[in-house]
Amino acid sequence: MNSPVTRTAPGKIILLGEHAVVYGRPAIAVPVHQVQATATVDPAAPGSGLIVSAVDLDRVMRLNEAPGDDPLASIARLTLAHLGAAPPDATLTIHSSIPIASGLGSGAAVSTAIVRALAAYLSHELSPATVSRMVYEVEKLHHGTPSGVDNTVISFGRPVYFVRGQSPQTFGVGAPLHLWIGDTGVASPTRVAVGNVRQGWQKDAARYERLFDQVGELVEQARGDIEAGRDAAMLGIMMDRNHDLLCQMGVSSPELERLVAAARAAGALGAKLSGAGRGGNMIALTRLEDGTRVAEALRQGGAVQVIGTVVPVS
Ligand code: PMV
Repeated sequence: MNSPVTRTAPGKIILLGEHAVVYGRPAIAVPVHQVQATATVDPAAPGSGLIVSAVDLDRVMRLNEAPGDDPLASIARLTLAHLGAAPPDATLTIHSSIPIASGLGSGAAVSTAIVRALAAYLSHELSPATVSRMVYEVEKLHHGTPSGVDNTVISFGRPVYFVRGQSPQTFGVGAPLHLWIGDTGVASPTRVAVGNVRQGWQKDAARYERLFDQVGELVEQARGDIEAGRDAAMLGIMMDRNHDLLCQMGVSSPELERLVAAARAAGALGAKLSGAGRGGNMIALTRLEDGTRVAEALRQGGAVQVIGTVVPVS
């Protein structure tokens, strides 16, 4: 009988470049290790098949009875097909501390943890690129036309510079980045916000292309600054500009504006919405010593959850 295995995957945030990344511009995303998805595979009675138990969703299902488009079953099936393995007699238990539909990559993290745990249970370790490719297939079920940034940063577990359709580049960080993530508590399905931007682009492609180009330039400059460990104040300014461009794309919301303003007023170097927008999360970049004050301002400004994370030197 196989031994039980547990594998995890982090959450993620997009530092710069969301939405424009869907249209071929670069984005930078970083893992958030303070929140994570966990998948455990335990041996079960012979003949039981694979039982999938999503604890937070209060769902238990047998893989062979799960609907074809169920994301949890889909990633389990893809993994088994990739390994050429039959479903083991086992229980796959999934937990996640990553808030759902808020831009922290919960879907991709759950999928990543499942691939890793099932593969390890069957004595395989898959490369981050292979895991990422499989997770991408399931991301398409969640939001139609994903750029692929979530599955990439989560499977690699490192900061990535990402251009749709190109091999992802992980990159080094020259000085630690202190980030605070504020959750508006407003669930915002990525598919909806991405659809709204598409409608805007269809109405006035020239205007949207100009906005995307400006985002792309910010991302290029930011990557150089982050790698070189230059003063974070400049990165903060670029985050503010990126937020402004996202507002012009129509994806901010009153709740996001309140949190962004609160963070800036409390001394953040920069603040912006992160992910699809319209709700979900915003991020603030701070100096180490200002972090607690900014976190408190986010709570006062209505954030339902505030998570601090440091992108370490690498
Ligand atoms: O809400 P999130 O973090 O899943 O991010 C969506 C990011 C978009 O650029 C808006 C869409 C995408 O597929 O990259």
